[in-house]
Amino acid sequence: MKSALITGITGQDGSYLAQLLLNKGYKVFGLFPRRSTDSTWRLEFLNIKDDVEFIDGDVTDLASILKALKVSKATEVYNLAAQSFVGTSWEQPILTANVTGTGVVNVLEAIRIFDPSIKFYQASTSEMFGLIQEEMQSEKTPFYPRSPYGVAKLYGHWITVNYRESFDLHASSGILFNHESPLRGIEFVTRKVTDAVARIKLGKQQELRLGNIDAKRDWGFAGDYVEAMWLMLQQEKADDYVIATGETTTVRDMCNIAFNHVNLNPEDHIVIDPKFYRPAEVDVLLGNPEKAKNALGWNASTSLNELITMMVEADMHRVKKEFGI
Ligand code: NAP
Ligand code: GDD
Repeated sequence: MKSALITGITGQDGSYLAQLLLNKGYKVFGLFPRRSTDSTWRLEFLNIKDDVEFIDGDVTDLASILKALKVSKATEVYNLAAQSFVGTSWEQPILTANVTGTGVVNVLEAIRIFDPSIKFYQASTSEMFGLIQEEMQSEKTPFYPRSPYGVAKLYGHWITVNYRESFDLHASSGILFNHESPLRGIEFVTRKVTDAVARIKLGKQQELRLGNIDAKRDWGFAGDYVEAMWLMLQQEKADDYVIATGETTTVRDMCNIAFNHVNLNPEDHIVIDPKFYRPAEVDVLLGNPEKAKNALGWNASTSLNELITMMVEADMHRVKKEFGI
């Protein structure tokens, strides 16, 4: 039986990836950072919490990663752990650098020391393109990060490339554009919107306060995107791939889909609050997934309409449960 180790297993992607790997017959281990409250709600939602094995550890602690490699005997390591919220990265830039940046070299060092034949996936991001240098961003587009998070991720990306070139590690970097799901954290804009729409529809909230609704993102479904991570590690040679839908939409239009789904008028509820503006914004992201399509046979198969509708429905269900409606 193949073994895989996932860092960030309790996050959105970690949970979907664990489910995918379990379905493929893997033994799945998760590096589990100590938290004072339970952080396993996503694994419970997918009904797989008891099917994965947790190993106490943190990506800022090299010794714990080495132990996790030894205990799990993993042949594939997926490094998804991060302080992943862009807004928070201005409030906690050093923590973001330590976890999202230096955390990557800790995992790579552990692999290099323990067993360099282990295949490695790094969760890189379209946020690295930041102030975009090309209308459609591909693997060849120069980077220009605009947040402490983007800067930390850029280090993670290049150190992955460097370990591949220096030590011949099978280390791949997936440059994933925004991907969402009913398991998305509530602080990210899609989930903030779908949760608010459900509460407004059910009479539990009146307004939705947002920042820059002219920003454009290339949004896909997380369930589709974890498949691409796995595909990258099945290739003979490690490489870097953009994973995206190839379509971009404003936050405003994404809101329209959510509100329209439950017959509400967004203009009656959305309030612009400068508190949610960022010190430096990424105005637009649009990915070119051609390479992934050709080399991995990967395609985004969920439309933004389907995705947002799925999220509104899940939040309607949750809010009804919360209030016993
Ligand atoms: P997420 O929901 O925020 O999950 C992040 C995970 O990292 C959580 O399990 C978190 O655990 C864990 N973590 C945080 N600090 C850690 C530490 N010091 N040691 C070990 N684990 C730690 O993020 P996601 O949306 O699933 O994204 C997964 C990865 O892909 C992240 O690296 C993210 O930056 C990257 N990415 C995401 C997107 C996207 O649109 N979702 C796009 C491109 C790249 P706790 O919850 O206990 O803190
Ligand atoms: N979160 C949030 N809250 N964003 C808002 C709001 C708001 O109230 N109002 C407008 N926005 C805008 C942000 O300014 C940004 O332009 C856009 O909505 C998307 O914000 P997020 O959903 O927070 O995502 P992100 O694009 O900053 O970052 C996500 O995607 C990256 C990939 O491009 C995260 O998942 C990152 O971890 C990931 O790397």
